[in-house]
Amino acid sequence: MVLSPPRVAHSLRVAEEAEHLAAVHGEDTFRAYLAGLLHDCARDLPWETLREFLPPYIQESDFPIPEIFHALAAPAIIERELGLRDFRIFRAIRWHATGCEWMSAFDKVVFVADIAEPGRDFPEAREIRQRAYSDLRVGYILALRAKIEYLLRTYGVIALESLRSWNREISMLRKEGKML
Ligand SMILES: [Fe+2]
Ligand SMILES: [Fe+2]
Repeated sequence: MVLSPPRVAHSLRVAEEAEHLAAVHGEDTFRAYLAGLLHDCARDLPWETLREFLPPYIQESDFPIPEIFHALAAPAIIERELGLRDFRIFRAIRWHATGCEWMSAFDKVVFVADIAEPGRDFPEAREIRQRAYSDLRVGYILALRAKIEYLLRTYGVIALESLRSWNREISMLRKEGKML
């Protein structure tokens, strides 16, 4: 595990943000801190190292979003390097880069903390953070929107899981009259 100094600072901020969010929403604060701390542990690894930790069904050629490989590889690295085996933490880290159709509240805590930690300087970060404290699901959909908008703006590739997540969450929120 090798992290650049800015990445360490980001990870510490995500850990603290995740811990606070977890406390407010009745999730496990210690696990949230750990998940935040470790979520980007594979972010600075070269592809040759990363590839041996990826799930076997992933091929570089048919999965053209290298930015999310670090999330997929992280659980195996954490297990091997730290001997830590915690599936709630693994799940949240596994999905922190894309979201997925079935996000648990704990997954959302880590996702939102990553996008909106206080060091993030895009304009909506503060609003996402604040909204997430009063309603985690609204905070999550705003965080996911920021991610998808960024990818659209920069001509990035959007993971299907992100779109599946968007469709499921936005349908539920609209049904409850929360987004309009
Ligand atoms: Fe990440
Ligand atoms: Fe991150």
